[in-house]
Amino acid sequence: MKIGGLQVGDWAVKESGGKQHLIFDCRNCPYGTSFVEDPHCRFHIFAALLETEADLVVLSEVYERVYNEAQTKMMSEIAKLMVKFETEAIWSYAHLGDPKIEGEEFFGERHDALVKVAHDILAYDPIAAYVLCLEEIKKERNRLAKTPENTRAEIYLNNLVALRETMERTELIGKARDIIMRLRQIPETTALYHSFFEAQIKPSFIGSRLLFEEMEKLELLDEYNVGQSSVQIFKHPSKTEKLYFINPPEYSLPPDKYFVLSKTREIVATYQPGKASLSSTAKSRKYFERIYQASIRDISKQANIKMSPEDVNQLAEIVARYTVGYGILEILLSDRRITDIYLDAPIGQKKVYIVHSKYGQCETNIIYTQDEANALVSKMRAMSGRPFDEAHPVLDLDLAELETRVAVIGPPLSPDGTAFAFRLHKVTPWTLPQFIDAKMLTPLAAGLLSFFIDMQATMLITGSRGSGKTSLAGSLMLEIPQNSRIIVQEDTMEIAVPYMKELGFNVQRLKTRSPISISKTETEVAPEESLRTALRLGDSALVIGEVRSKEAKVLYEAMRVGAAGNIVMGTIHGDSAYSVWDRVVNDLGVPNTSFKATDVVVVARPIRFAGSLERHRRIVQITEVGKHWTEDPEKEHGLLDLMTYDAGKDTLELNEANIKKSELFERIMSVSGLSAKQIWANIELKANSKEYLVQLKNKYKIPLLLESENTVLANNKLLLIKENALQKYGASANLDSVLGEWKEWVSSVLLKRVLGAQMKKG
Ligand SMILES: Nc1ncnc2c1ncn2[C@@H]1O[C@H](COP(=O)(O)OP(=O)(O)OP(=O)(O)O)[C@@H](O)[C@H]1O
Ligand SMILES: [Mg+2]
Repeated sequence: MKIGGLQVGDWAVKESGGKQHLIFDCRNCPYGTSFVEDPHCRFHIFAALLETEADLVVLSEVYERVYNEAQTKMMSEIAKLMVKFETEAIWSYAHLGDPKIEGEEFFGERHDALVKVAHDILAYDPIAAYVLCLEEIKKERNRLAKTPENTRAEIYLNNLVALRETMERTELIGKARDIIMRLRQIPETTALYHSFFEAQIKPSFIGSRLLFEEMEKLELLDEYNVGQSSVQIFKHPSKTEKLYFINPPEYSLPPDKYFVLSKTREIVATYQPGKASLSSTAKSRKYFERIYQASIRDISKQANIKMSPEDVNQLAEIVARYTVGYGILEILLSDRRITDIYLDAPIGQKKVYIVHSKYGQCETNIIYTQDEANALVSKMRAMSGRPFDEAHPVLDLDLAELETRVAVIGPPLSPDGTAFAFRLHKVTPWTLPQFIDAKMLTPLAAGLLSFFIDMQATMLITGSRGSGKTSLAGSLMLEIPQNSRIIVQEDTMEIAVPYMKELGFNVQRLKTRSPISISKTETEVAPEESLRTALRLGDSALVIGEVRSKEAKVLYEAMRVGAAGNIVMGTIHGDSAYSVWDRVVNDLGVPNTSFKATDVVVVARPIRFAGSLERHRRIVQITEVGKHWTEDPEKEHGLLDLMTYDAGKDTLELNEANIKKSELFERIMSVSGLSAKQIWANIELKANSKEYLVQLKNKYKIPLLLESENTVLANNKLLLIKENALQKYGASANLDSVLGEWKEWVSSVLLKRVLGAQMKKG
């Protein structure tokens, strides 16, 4: 389209996330790429908006300026105004005055003024057009005041006033008017555009937009860095969830760096790095960064842009992130304070959500795009070697190098399009003392569970999604004596097996096929087959990452005949001991008699305290599965709550009466030869030792003390001291003095070690 004889630059409309993006290709435009700074740019935008509707305006050269919906609406209103004035021919003869009363003396001047206000200037600088209109009104009023009544006509003035009012009804002019009135003078119009049209800037090869809206209303709660990006946590006055704002360096580089960055990215985009690019292991990542560094140095040299070695490294890291890496998600994935990341369908409409270990569910400032999502899916498809399409709408895989599990779902399962859920694993396994410290359970409950491990009980941990089942199973594994063999069977590798090996555990992992991926071209072993193998591996502790389907039958059959090794532990979705029975027996088809091989069900649940939206993970039930019932364990009192959660006190309480009825305790007594009193002394020894570590950690502010590397040492030492005492004094050994001796060792050896290590860390 042509306006005022000027050809408008290239633009196109693209739909993304249900929004119309009006995108200008500004690379060959001689004018500035900014609605705020350059009147010609404004002119182009208005001209395009005359032809098309748009939700967002994007000016694209080496970086993109994105004007949000509110700003685009303000622009569109001006375009509509231009059409209105043109069709109403506001500058036509009839609007210029009354020739019978005042003659045509001023008509030429008035015509000029009207065309300037309502057409020529309006298209370049609407605020200036408005200001001119105000001046013209003032001038006309002054002139009328001096005009004798018989030659005074107000047609022109009325026309001007109507024009002013129409302009003021647009949001842009309305806002400008308010400021002009307040200041009682007319500021530079550029300054006004600045305050209304602050655009987001991002490199054009990055799809995701970052929104920094309503910052003035927000209360800053926390601030930290993740690599080179800064993270801020805010509280919004009217939102229940917190806001998580990330600000990576690539969104705020100076223009010359953007230039080098985009050029490099253009060049390396055509380079096919082959299979190596599919993994982003640290080694291959460094390899690509080195290649990019060379390009960056070349390009900046040619363009005469000064770059320090740090600048080159920084840019190479960014290029790698958006070529072989996971883009902006990678930054979120490296913030280990995040536990989950959700990209809901339709992507591009809603902001990315995260769950923060300290601040719970948070809305981020990131709008991810469909294009990025498609690229991510291709990458994951290639990495897993599995299909993902209408026939296989679920893709589930581990990003081992990022300690993350991803589930992707697509249509028809997710009718609004692809959606992603990322679960970030804690890098080091949770320990029971850490759970005590986080109030997930009490020292006594930790002691009890650890004691059950000693007594080779069979335990199922249940809870809703994300309630901490797998974490708890991992922490209980750390209670298994290090001389036992442990076999872990998982479809997604969540339990920190390599880390446990480093700590001295004897662990073997079996990775099985994911039952939720519907694909048929799997090379992995089905869980039930894997389990048969595991059982053949002999007398070991068996940990099943998640009991989901057919393997349950194999598992229970093995447990029933006592072939399942000495400790069996697994996690299963549910919300109570009864629901675990219902699931295992009624859904998975395990007979009641086999189900009774379960000794204990532990229930985890996120609790919301009255009046608070924050969720706290708690163990709410430790339940014994009795052996004397036939049909329904609840009706026949087959489920015995050993400990139950008291929400009022936020604590797990021991049910003394039920303990007295416990068949499990009776069995333990007969098998181990321990008296009830001795059993409790053992449980308390464990409980007290863990509680002591937590107290020391808080006293000296040394979180490191509760990490597995130290709690495992502490457990081993306690076991050793107890063994010595048992050898010396037999069953009558005094466990209080065992604890005393152990505490001495902790203060004289462990504490020093940890304080030293913490100092080194700074
Ligand atoms: N007591 C706790 N306090 C804070 N964070 C916790 C606690 N327990 C677990 N988490 C964190 O919560 C997240 C979910 O934990 P986990 O994977 O153990 O849950 P899950 O019940 O196994 O989930 P799923 O149902 O998806 O298998 C993890 O990031 C974990 O580190
Ligand atoms: Mg789990």
